[in-house]
Amino acid sequence: MPAVSLKCRVCGTTHDLEGIGTCRSCFGPLDPVYDRETQARVTRASITAGPHSIWRYADFLPVEPLPNQALAPGMTPLVSAPRLAEELGIGELWLKLDTANPTHSFKDRGVAVAAAKARELGLTTLACSSTGNLANAVAARAAADGFEAAVFTPAGLEHEKLIATSVYGATLYAVEGSYDDVSRLTVELSFELPWGFVNAALRSYYAEGSKTVGFEIAEQLGFELPDAVFAPIGSGALYAKIFEGFREWKELGLVDGTLPRMYGGQAEGCQPVVTAWETGEKVTPVRPATQALSIAIGNPADGDYAIEAARASGGGFFSVPEADIADNIVELAHATGVWGETAPAVTFGALKEAVARGVVGPNDRVVLVVSGDGLKTPGLVSHLVDAITIPPDADVVLDLVGAAV
Ligand SMILES: Cc1ncc(COP(=O)(O)O)c(C=O)c1O
Ligand SMILES: [Zn+2]
Repeated sequence: MPAVSLKCRVCGTTHDLEGIGTCRSCFGPLDPVYDRETQARVTRASITAGPHSIWRYADFLPVEPLPNQALAPGMTPLVSAPRLAEELGIGELWLKLDTANPTHSFKDRGVAVAAAKARELGLTTLACSSTGNLANAVAARAAADGFEAAVFTPAGLEHEKLIATSVYGATLYAVEGSYDDVSRLTVELSFELPWGFVNAALRSYYAEGSKTVGFEIAEQLGFELPDAVFAPIGSGALYAKIFEGFREWKELGLVDGTLPRMYGGQAEGCQPVVTAWETGEKVTPVRPATQALSIAIGNPADGDYAIEAARASGGGFFSVPEADIADNIVELAHATGVWGETAPAVTFGALKEAVARGVVGPNDRVVLVVSGDGLKTPGLVSHLVDAITIPPDADVVLDLVGAAV
């Protein structure tokens, strides 16, 4: 395994590959460091000969995969969306359908990585704070690999997400507070309980799983980088790690083309990263008031890291009006046949804003990350059901459609 240590993003201190969420010297976030010489032996051919899952990228992940690779996530479809590309006036539009993961969101990727680390550390319970999708992913992963699971979510999440968590058998704690309250609670608990909190003590491993979205996009485009990528911003990890994945492969010469511009979307009711981007200040926490519950994170752990990625890539961030979120879900579904949840609806809103401002256009090959499934957030669009009730009589239908004989 090429991972050799964890390194603090703030003070640069190096740590062993332990289950510590933050730097012992300054509490900064930690990222895995890899032996580039070992990684330099990886080729396009060795990657494509690997398993049909994130584990084909094991040389770029900080864990050894569990031996049986049960319920492995990844290798989700990258599909073109020609009708929407034409409507928007952009060269090419590709949708990365991370809804095709085992629990219908990209969260399965990072959880598989964190679970492998938890097993290595001898932990028997997986845990997390979650805005819903991570809870589903932890619950299913625990079932697949034989862990106990305990998940903590804000009370008041979409019922569909809670059902999915419960059906896999996890213990579900509904916390009276915002996601940021839940996150604080689990960080505190992670110091007291011998549980594998995937996005606290195991965060360096969990977050790294999102790099595989970038690897797959590049591989599926024939090891060529796209011109622009649009992703949602919750904690900022998905967005920043996609870019990190592109950057690693570019450095190793595994991909052709230049690094893509990275664009991120936040809902107007929770846009601390957009605000920091526009003002040039550090990210300042806000109190979320948005319908996009999966990205309702007021104190994003990787917000400043995401801003660095935007700067390095020549991208940026856009705010999306709350009033547009439900319409965006429907517009994306009508134009592509893909039903995303609120986070991709916000991402799509960011894409439309970028088109309106002329920052992406006819010369661009664009990828939009569909990070979660509309089936989990049907509440926003359930009013659309307007069935025409009829008897089983063809004449009635012909009459109705104006084709009476
Ligand atoms: C569907 C979906 N998209 C995006 C995000 C945001 O990801 P991140 O916290 O890595 O920015 C989340 C979860 O937080 C999510 O559930
Ligand atoms: Zn540090």
